[in-house]
Amino acid sequence: MGKKISIQVFSNSLGDEEIKAIEPILKSRWIGMGKETELFEKEFGQTIGSKSVLAVNSCTSALFLSMHILGIGQGDEVIIPSINFIGTANAVLNVGAKPIFADVDPDTLNLLPSEIRRLRTKNTKAVLLLHYGGHPCDFDTISDAAKGLSLIEDSANSIVSQYKGRTCGTLGDLGCFSFDAMKILCVGDGGALVVNRPDLIDRAQEYRYLGIKNQKSGIDSFKAKNTKWWEIDLGRTSGRYISNDIASAIGRVQLKKLSGFIARRKEIWGRYQKELRQFDWIVRPPEPLTETTTSYYLFWIKLKAKVRDALAQHLVSKGIYCTFRYYPLHLIKQYNSTEKLKNSESLNDTVLNLPLHQNISDTDLDYIIETIKDFEQKIRQ
Ligand SMILES: Cc1ncc(COP(=O)(O)O)c(C=O)c1O
Repeated sequence: MGKKISIQVFSNSLGDEEIKAIEPILKSRWIGMGKETELFEKEFGQTIGSKSVLAVNSCTSALFLSMHILGIGQGDEVIIPSINFIGTANAVLNVGAKPIFADVDPDTLNLLPSEIRRLRTKNTKAVLLLHYGGHPCDFDTISDAAKGLSLIEDSANSIVSQYKGRTCGTLGDLGCFSFDAMKILCVGDGGALVVNRPDLIDRAQEYRYLGIKNQKSGIDSFKAKNTKWWEIDLGRTSGRYISNDIASAIGRVQLKKLSGFIARRKEIWGRYQKELRQFDWIVRPPEPLTETTTSYYLFWIKLKAKVRDALAQHLVSKGIYCTFRYYPLHLIKQYNSTEKLKNSESLNDTVLNLPLHQNISDTDLDYIIETIKDFEQKIRQ
């Protein structure tokens, strides 16, 4: 038994400002989706450069919604990088379509555009890509390879990452963002669906809330002189994926703090890059591609397989949590994939994510580096 974990790999920063912001919402007794959510959507939209943000209750919901909005269903195929969150494959399977797992670049862990050419068939309807760790994908090359297909961006790692001056999540047809407890901007549980195609906005709105057409509250309908304001007009049938004003009030405060979070993450990233240079057995992550910026969501190192596992054990025994995001989807037996993806399998044996979040202090960082030094001495003995 080692030390209790004292440094987490992910963390959020919620404080008195968020507590103050939810007080009037609670007291107003209107805690569902209302004015505060409209403001959050507008302000988040201004941050990422989009006029069509729909706040939802999780990024997983946004992924599930994106399948319905694009009309993906039985017999269709969706290409997904294998190093990815399970919600992506679940979303595809949920509509009866088939996830096709693709290999990733060994350095950036982002989808290889050549994989789209290799895997696309007449049944392929979409590519669901991830900007791994916050580093934007090679989007132009991907779009080129995916001509004629829909593009969905999982932007859970890349809240403000930029690709040639545009924010990730606003590049493809739909963008999916996460504000869960482990993300840079946290509202508890929450997310956003960004609709980049004007022709999809009405569908997206209907799918977000039970399939209801022209979503007005009963009170709005009454004010509009409708004598039977309780009547319902369904455009389609759907689940309930909306956010609420408590989460949105927290989100609005978090938005004000976001640039500070990113700045601190950048400092930590920079210190890792500098300090880890002394260890010739550690491969550090690349900087983002030219003309792109990152959100510094993950820091990843590559090591020989046995060394990776031993370092993970050593760090955890010293109270430093570490992990590997994301266990390759094609290796999850329930997905029944027969793909052999060389890079993803090798990365699965060799990559480790070190703690990277705004709550890491300089003392924590010193301790992490010292602990890696101890480990080096141990293996060199
Ligand atoms: C890459 C990625 N996509 C999507 C999600 C889902 O986010 P949420 O927890 O908001 O549903 C996560 C969550 O960890 C994630 O890491």
